[in-house]
Amino acid sequence: MPNEALGAAKEKKNDEFYTQYDDIQREINAYLDYDPDTFRDKTVLLPCDDPEWSNFTRFFAQNFDRLGLKKLISTSYATESKQKNTSIQVSIFDFLTEYETQSPQYDESISPNRGKIFTLTRRNKKIDINDLQWKYLEGDGDFRSEEVTRLRDEADIIVTNPPFSLFREFLAWIMAANKKFLIIGSQNAITYKEVFPLIRSNSIWLGNGFNHGNAFFRVIGINPKYANGVFDESTGLVKFRNCHWFTNLDHGRRHQPLPLMTMADNLKFSKHKEIKEQGYLKYDNYDAIEVPYTDAIPSDYDGVMGVPITFLDKYCPEQFEIIGITKTWFGLASKVYPNQTQVSRNGNTSIVSKLNDGPAIKVSQKPLDTTYYMVDNDYYIQLYARVLIRKKVPD
Ligand SMILES: C[S@@+](CC[C@H](N)C(=O)[O-])C[C@H]1O[C@@H](n2cnc3c(N)ncnc32)[C@H](O)[C@@H]1O
Repeated sequence: MPNEALGAAKEKKNDEFYTQYDDIQREINAYLDYDPDTFRDKTVLLPCDDPEWSNFTRFFAQNFDRLGLKKLISTSYATESKQKNTSIQVSIFDFLTEYETQSPQYDESISPNRGKIFTLTRRNKKIDINDLQWKYLEGDGDFRSEEVTRLRDEADIIVTNPPFSLFREFLAWIMAANKKFLIIGSQNAITYKEVFPLIRSNSIWLGNGFNHGNAFFRVIGINPKYANGVFDESTGLVKFRNCHWFTNLDHGRRHQPLPLMTMADNLKFSKHKEIKEQGYLKYDNYDAIEVPYTDAIPSDYDGVMGVPITFLDKYCPEQFEIIGITKTWFGLASKVYPNQTQVSRNGNTSIVSKLNDGPAIKVSQKPLDTTYYMVDNDYYIQLYARVLIRKKVPD
């Protein structure tokens, strides 16, 4: 159940997932490979980042000189606020470290409800993590506070793994200041109405990506049992299959076109049985063909194609343009179905409007072993949300 942990994180508002150093390093290297000056002379802000726990601060501090940073600022969120906003038991002691308690500025009375700010500025010497200076923020370090928003305004690039439960708000907070950024979020965020239009307009895109799509996070102060099925006791890490980096920094992989076959070749040689057997079906409510697999996109089709949202991980803007998404709020559907009856696998029926919110395929016979819809004695099945794309015509 690969998505179980992320679902549970949202449901229970548990945001304490800590990113692995290797994942950060691998991702940052992809931008440096494309442009070694991506971070040069830049002020980088790492908000929502508990520096004592997080590898973001460690990575950027350790690589301060290599990246050519001007300034590094990292802020953390107060433990009392963490406790208040999560239904999972987090103890203040889970987050207290010797690093903090042994610093001269440590103050037991204010520590639980204050965020901290760590800064590193370029000086005429080699910089490393021991040069990090910290002090308490005025408030709890909420990224929406005035003081962290001022730091956002000062920054050139914002990098973090923000709280999953506040992803929409966090992205809006960055975009409001028109900043460069690199953040982690759930694959589902692609379909949000606050996110997809930015992807469509090539204002933001997916990053280079986790190793084989597997993101591992360390969990802190929570009972890992709730992450049943994806918690690995031997490593103490929770695995997510549906996490991505979202960014507006350029990287090389997004300019590599997908190698694809023509439609005729797909129909003959595709490794997917249903392409060879059924060909490319047409949606009933969108003027597009269904392409259920990214590697089955026909290279020579000029019309609109519906592809799985995972396509965006392979999307090259020079090869395809994004037309839209099969979500009601996007408004591209060519029809609205009246009087829908949903028939579930076990035969239960209900009157719904769900068929409107996704691509529908009309079928000639009553479908077996799957949920289907009846409208005026016709049968339909609904597919997952699809991104609608078209071959890019060179300018
Ligand atoms: C997914 S964790 C990531 C931590 C760290 N950036 C990392 O990846 O290792 C998100 C962090 O944001 C903190 N957080 C939650 N709500 C916040 C808010 N409103 N403002 C700032 N930080 C918040 C959580 O307590 C948590 O430590």
